[in-house]
Amino acid sequence: MNKSDLSNKILAIAPSGSISIAQAITELREKGEKIIGLNVGEPDFKTPEVVLNATKKALDSGRTKYSLVSGERELRDAIAKYFFARTGTVIGAQNILVGNGSKQIIYNAFQAILNDGDEVIIPVPYWVTIPESVKLAGGVSKFVPSQKDFHLDLDAIKAAVSKNSKAIYINTPNNPTGIVYNEKELLALGEIAKEHNLWIIADEAYESLTYDRKFVAINTLSEDLFERTICIQSFSKTFCMTGFRLGYMIANEVVIKEIDKFQGHLCGNVAPFTQLGAVDALAIHEQISFPLVEEMKKRRDITFELFSKLFDCHKPEGAFYLFLDISKYIKSGLVKNSAEMVELLIRDAKVALVPGSAFGQEGFIRLAYTASIDELKQAYEQIAKVLA
Ligand SMILES: Cc1ncc(COP(=O)(O)O)c(C=O)c1O
Repeated sequence: MNKSDLSNKILAIAPSGSISIAQAITELREKGEKIIGLNVGEPDFKTPEVVLNATKKALDSGRTKYSLVSGERELRDAIAKYFFARTGTVIGAQNILVGNGSKQIIYNAFQAILNDGDEVIIPVPYWVTIPESVKLAGGVSKFVPSQKDFHLDLDAIKAAVSKNSKAIYINTPNNPTGIVYNEKELLALGEIAKEHNLWIIADEAYESLTYDRKFVAINTLSEDLFERTICIQSFSKTFCMTGFRLGYMIANEVVIKEIDKFQGHLCGNVAPFTQLGAVDALAIHEQISFPLVEEMKKRRDITFELFSKLFDCHKPEGAFYLFLDISKYIKSGLVKNSAEMVELLIRDAKVALVPGSAFGQEGFIRLAYTASIDELKQAYEQIAKVLA
């Protein structure tokens, strides 16, 4: 048997752009090259001690068996409390389903809402996994441009609505641009969704990581928006728990019940001991997220100041990415596209970034300021030399 005997479904999936870069870096490092990795969407902070202790305690007390598909009751109650503390909106355990990272939650969501050929409107640039997840659910991605400053282009979204439209996907704070959508644009988006009876899939994996702009949760803006939104959340970024693979969705009770059936057949429950680690993380969420946000803001300010000397760039308001415009280097003939720029910078500057093409936006590269300030400064020096 060979590759062509596999399903069309699996063969149609594109490999993850960011994971391919990670493999290239590993090979270079194995050859002894010192590469500064600004390609990874993962904070370089350790998982908090309190989370590790709670996880160990849960392991020792035997929380190692099959359990509730939708998530441990303690965790769902803690999430509801956290959501209230952050937004002032009351939800209950029945509105929450816990999955293996928000990646799986996104997969759950598209499987739950899409029939074959249904369209999902996706603003560009988008996070790499989204179109593949839509494809796996039999859906079709309908890409729409964003405005020049990367806020939503509501006219483009309206124009993209067709009789096959089923949902609009948004990601705020945004990967790769760092833009945080404001209440006005979210309300206007909500009006479009209501007029055409569309779902909103709101990916809020970076919700606690905002710097100058307050994060607005679209599902808290009206009852209608709560009902039509499947909100995607993650423990990976805010709580530095990427390897725990813990995410959750917030949605209306009916949706949660249906997805509970689906997840029951897909993977069952998430490991209970990791969920109990997350309960303790939520209990002290401010103590964990405040220092992270403070450090990331410092890095944002430094990297923005340095790298905007080399590239045009909008100041990110959240997450931990700079989306750098490389069009002047394409015009000058230095490189043809973002993939070539990333190759050049890995080879000659020894700094790894991700090409904009991985996010559907040619002419840009993404820098993750998830390394130390010293490394970020060093990366700037090395890149400036190559581009001089
Ligand atoms: C926008 C966005 N959503 C979701 C995720 C997935 O996070 P996880 O599966 O670790 O919860 C990521 C990870 O990089 C992301 O950037």
